[in-house]
Amino acid sequence: MPLPKAELHLHIEGTLEPELAFRLAERNGVTLPYADTGELREAYRFEDLQSFLNLYYELMAVLIDEQDFEDLANAYLERAAAQGVRHAEIFFDPQAHLERGVPMGVIVEGLWRALGRSEENHGVSTRLIMCFLRDKSAESALLTLEMAEPYLDRITGVGLDSAEVGNPPVKFREVYEAAAALGLRRVAHAGEEGPPEYITEALDVLGVERVDHGLRCVEDPELVARLVRDRIPLTLCPLSNVRLRAVDVLAAHPLPAMLDAGLLCTVNSDDPAYFGGYAGDNFRAVREALGLTDDRLRELARNSFLASFLDDDEELRARYLAEVEAYEFGDAVS
Ligand code: HPA
Ligand code: ZN
Repeated sequence: MPLPKAELHLHIEGTLEPELAFRLAERNGVTLPYADTGELREAYRFEDLQSFLNLYYELMAVLIDEQDFEDLANAYLERAAAQGVRHAEIFFDPQAHLERGVPMGVIVEGLWRALGRSEENHGVSTRLIMCFLRDKSAESALLTLEMAEPYLDRITGVGLDSAEVGNPPVKFREVYEAAAALGLRRVAHAGEEGPPEYITEALDVLGVERVDHGLRCVEDPELVARLVRDRIPLTLCPLSNVRLRAVDVLAAHPLPAMLDAGLLCTVNSDDPAYFGGYAGDNFRAVREALGLTDDRLRELARNSFLASFLDDDEELRARYLAEVEAYEFGDAVS
């Protein structure tokens, strides 16, 4: 039995496996510029965040109607459940679909057809987090939030993703203020490729409760002290960091030092179809490459539920936390 865990950093569009991409392309009459799944996988040689994003946005062309979004989410939930994910807080990137003419209602309702039945179908509770693309304008983000207003009963929070460097958090001050006024939770990618100052800015200017990645905080001891003191969770994505070259090799990942420093770290998969593994695969990889003890792995699983937005269902959170404490380690953490 896999270790029970919550996944808090997962882009639903990043779960599009080549096989599903080709199936949806055929169903929708879309031509992909790759002969087959093998040739597509060959394209997965990323040098940095931008080279990944180029492919990530290109493949979204196959997502057109509600059924596509439902199929995508169900495929993820099934794989995640098999790797011990009991709760998933799922990002989606509406601007990447709106600009292709896919309406907000198709995106949200399509995803909801899977998420709304996930507890019964997959045993996974879910929340939905709408991300703004930081390489688009602040006005576009504001318009996106406005378009999401009819669907806010489905959306728990907002996030910020895409090309980080040159697009600091302060650019999105206004839309985060508006999101807070609507009662939405706030997270943001910061300190993946961008400097530690972006993490500080995300906390001070955007009021985020959780930092996605946050890896580069280790360069600023004062920031680390603040994150520890204020119990700000970081959603780390170890296999993503290797593929996008934020770290050279997994054995050099600062996760053990970050845990030793008292940071509230979680382990997540980011874009599992592209980066070589789902949540459990990430747990297994850090256990093997970094020699994490069972106590450390249990801490990571506990942190994932503590850092989740289950504040609206403390009973469920307590049940998951009890599952983590009762877990008996065998050879499987995935
Ligand atoms: N970083 C920034 N933007 C993203 C990512 C990521 O890891 N995945 C999908 N969009
Ligand atoms: Zn991400």
